[in-house]
Amino acid sequence: MSTDKISNRVVIFDTTLRDGEQSPGASMTLDEKLRIAEMLEELGVDVIEAGFPIASDGDFEAVREISKLIRTPIICGLARSGHADIERAAEALKPAKRPRIHTFIATSPLHMKFKLQMEPVDVHQAVVDSVTQARNHTDDVDWSPEDGSRTDPDFLCRCVESAIKAGATCINLPDTVGYALPEEFGGLIRMLRERVPNSDKAIFSAHCHNDLGLAVANSLAAVEAGARQVECTINGLGERAGNAALEEIVMALGTRNDLMPFETAINTEVITRISRLVSTITGFTVQPNKAIVGANAFAHEAGIHQDGILKHAGTYEIMTPESVGLRESKLVMGKHSGRHAFREKIKELGYVLGDNAVQDAFRRFKTLADKKKDLYDEDIIALIDDEVIRGNDRIKFVSLQVVCGSVGPQTAELELDIDGKTDNVKATGDGPVDATFNAIGELFPHVANLQLYQVHAVTKGTDAQAEVTVRLEENGKTVNGQGADTDTLVASARAYVNALNKLLVKRAKTAPQALSA
Ligand code: KIV
Ligand code: ZN
Repeated sequence: MSTDKISNRVVIFDTTLRDGEQSPGASMTLDEKLRIAEMLEELGVDVIEAGFPIASDGDFEAVREISKLIRTPIICGLARSGHADIERAAEALKPAKRPRIHTFIATSPLHMKFKLQMEPVDVHQAVVDSVTQARNHTDDVDWSPEDGSRTDPDFLCRCVESAIKAGATCINLPDTVGYALPEEFGGLIRMLRERVPNSDKAIFSAHCHNDLGLAVANSLAAVEAGARQVECTINGLGERAGNAALEEIVMALGTRNDLMPFETAINTEVITRISRLVSTITGFTVQPNKAIVGANAFAHEAGIHQDGILKHAGTYEIMTPESVGLRESKLVMGKHSGRHAFREKIKELGYVLGDNAVQDAFRRFKTLADKKKDLYDEDIIALIDDEVIRGNDRIKFVSLQVVCGSVGPQTAELELDIDGKTDNVKATGDGPVDATFNAIGELFPHVANLQLYQVHAVTKGTDAQAEVTVRLEENGKTVNGQGADTDTLVASARAYVNALNKLLVKRAKTAPQALSA
């Protein structure tokens, strides 16, 4: 079959909430997932993989609530090949307008022998049984041979043929360990489309991991070879080195439409905003030189480049910042700005907040305006994001006084609200950050280890807000917390408290064995 006989429309399947959330430390609360799902809908993705319902009650609830809330994209739930997995996914997807079950089993010799300890003949039977069972619940079934790129081609073709015969409408080929090279991966898709007799009955899809930095290149090679769905995540979030980055695939297809004449339904102007939201919620900051969404992606430092840009933007810019929703940082408001102007600004920045959230954000805006002369869009965004990530926190920051300087001991006097009761303590430490974190430890004893402490300035100037990321680890589980404030120590306390709250949510999640996918 040649690619020109099939449509040029590429389905964008977003798995930020499933494979993205599987990356260590990236766990999200239900509210956070709903917020991201709403923005994914605004972005125009075709499919949202909302979670792995059997993995935990939290995952089940997230898939169910997203199924209730989101009306346009297809909502997908992941399931291994077992009966209980598929039933749980089907149950979670019941409220969805357009439900999809994505079921998978490993097919490579290595995975079958050592992980599954199953014979190929039994794996093949499990493919047929799982797809048949999934089709009893929905006529939209996606089937994946996990570690597909390292699977014996004959066995792969046999499984794909049987999956389609059993009713799979989409065949997704995962490069689970990010091992494939672009020509090789494209070749696999081409082979499946050519050798599998009923291949025209299903849409082919690519699911690439980035261990060799080739996830996007492999996904594009798959599209060239006839795949019409790509599974990807915002900011390339995902296990280990991550998944293929949605924004890179979409912008590559748009910018090089001359050589890759394919279409997506993505509203690219939402890209910057959703990148920021995902980064704020997960605490995974985007590297400055990351393509499309990095802080330097559209910055021109070298004089010769700046000169060229001034004469004609096309000299050094292959796409415009506006096309990904990046606008020039604007000086927006000051302490005299009123509630109405603030509400308008929030709308312009693309937020939809309820009345209470607007009130809270406005109160914090006024406090910030008293401390900081010039307020930019980035300040308002940091402030609202900070408000949003605190949603239903059990532990809340109340106040902090720190004594620091060259003569120790540095002291932190901290007040926290824990489950509705305020408490305070005075602690010392080796520096003000250590003193602050020790105070948190006294008010809320825990055994988590601090793995990362990172600060960056939201805007320029010495009165800029600091955005702090804190990563905590407890019994092998990691979480990232974030906090923003003009005072770096307050931002640090907020970030630590945010991480602790996430840890509490994560403690409640118990994953079954061998969920890695
Ligand atoms: O990487 C992988 O193999 C997966 C599958 C579940 C599609 O995430
Ligand atoms: Zn994956």
